[in-house]
Amino acid sequence: QANQGPVFDFSDEQLAVRDAARDFARTYLLPGVIERDETQTFDRELLKKMGEMGFLGMMASPEFGGGGLDTVSYVLAMEEIAKIDASAAVIMSVNNSLVCWGIEKYGSQAQKEKYLSRLTGGEIIGAFCLSEPEAGSDATSQQTTAKDFGDHYLLNGTKNWITNGNTSGVCLVIAQTHEEKKHHGINCLLVEKGWPGFSVGRKENKMGIRASDTHSLMFSDVKVPKENRIGEDGFGFKLAMSTLNGGRIGIAAQALGIASGAFERALDYARQRKAFGKTIFEHQAIQFKLSEMAMRIEAARLLILKAAVLKDQGKDFVKEAAMAKLFASETAMWVTTEAVQIHGGYGYVKEYHVERMMRDAKITQIYEGTSEIQNLVIARALI
Ligand code: CAA
Ligand code: FAD
Repeated sequence: QANQGPVFDFSDEQLAVRDAARDFARTYLLPGVIERDETQTFDRELLKKMGEMGFLGMMASPEFGGGGLDTVSYVLAMEEIAKIDASAAVIMSVNNSLVCWGIEKYGSQAQKEKYLSRLTGGEIIGAFCLSEPEAGSDATSQQTTAKDFGDHYLLNGTKNWITNGNTSGVCLVIAQTHEEKKHHGINCLLVEKGWPGFSVGRKENKMGIRASDTHSLMFSDVKVPKENRIGEDGFGFKLAMSTLNGGRIGIAAQALGIASGAFERALDYARQRKAFGKTIFEHQAIQFKLSEMAMRIEAARLLILKAAVLKDQGKDFVKEAAMAKLFASETAMWVTTEAVQIHGGYGYVKEYHVERMMRDAKITQIYEGTSEIQNLVIARALI
């Protein structure tokens, strides 16, 4: 368990947050998790409840309705939510570590009052829009443009794969203003859903995290007031990268939750299921799978906590966040695949949850920077 050991001595507050998230996940998220995956829906009421419980603005300042909690508390909660429902975890991760954090860290007082205070309690949900049809890993190649017209920008282009694409009320949109300056000409704009020229594409029919809605967003001459630019002119790419550093800790914790949820189910199953006159746990091949799972999960947890602690201490954590995200997502994929194996045929059907977890795990190796991109970030930090 994460509350033991000499390395991380959690405070009472951190443990209380973790326990509240665990109770919430078991009480509200577990019932219906299979159905939500099948129907690709996430109840508004559930989202509202997550907001009321404080899970949507955990690290934001109380001045704007946030929980004022540290990153360690956030990752502890994230693991518990993702253990049960990885879709809920990604909704939470985008709202907390990309949208709320981006606005709180770099936004103006007016932007915080207008948007952050509504995002923290779930009155509206946020989306973070960096990826495009031709700009995923290669994020500096932004094709979406924000032309400067003095008191406003005109926004044109398409964003792809946007989590909370349809449910969001406000979006952080990254767009190119001064092409000749390359990534130093990019801006980040706060764009409200429903503004003229803003349309939402069809919902993506995904392999995993199916209850989380993913859409393309289209902008055609959307007029965005200048006061909705976050930070100085040309700061948008830096903002995106810096926000993603923290986001990667959140996604790492999501991956950890998926892995630990699948591990717990596999361990329980192995102790009950009998084959050849004994429990399958008593077969060493199965025992060693479980010991390897436990070890990799613990290593992932330590990397995540290290990145979170460095962030909370205001130290550089770029490399550690990339390591945590890379290791935790690879762990999630491996652990969930082995959890299905341990369940045999039962692992291949929905009632036992592990097949969903295996599908959910895959995305953690792709979004917020693929595993290859995390390797690139780590390698660059080495030199
Ligand atoms: N932190 C802070 N700044 C960073 C940074 C980081 N992790 N990574 C890059 N930068 C800065 C660089 O310092 C540089 O700025 P200066 O020129 O001012 O020094 C600028 O960004 C450009 O960096 P590079 O020269 O290294 O650019 P590159 O094109 O060679 O590579 C990259 C950049 C690291 C590959 C980057 O484009 C990247 O991270 N790609 C992955 C994109 C990504 O993670 N997308 C996630 C979308 S959101 C999402 O997915 C949400 C979700 O699913 C739920
Ligand atoms: P590409 O960049 O085309 O990569 C294809 C392959 O090439 C990958 O394996 C990649 O690792 C590899 N590759 C690329 N460049 C290199 C390199 N230099 N070295 C080695 N290998 C390389 N984006 C948002 O902005 N906001 C969101 O809310 C969001 N949510 C998402 C939700 C889902 C369900 C999905 C599927 C995606 C989401 N994304 C979001 C987009 C996601 O961040 C991108 O899909 C991801 O960054 C990869 O970009 P790409 O899909 O264009 O792949």
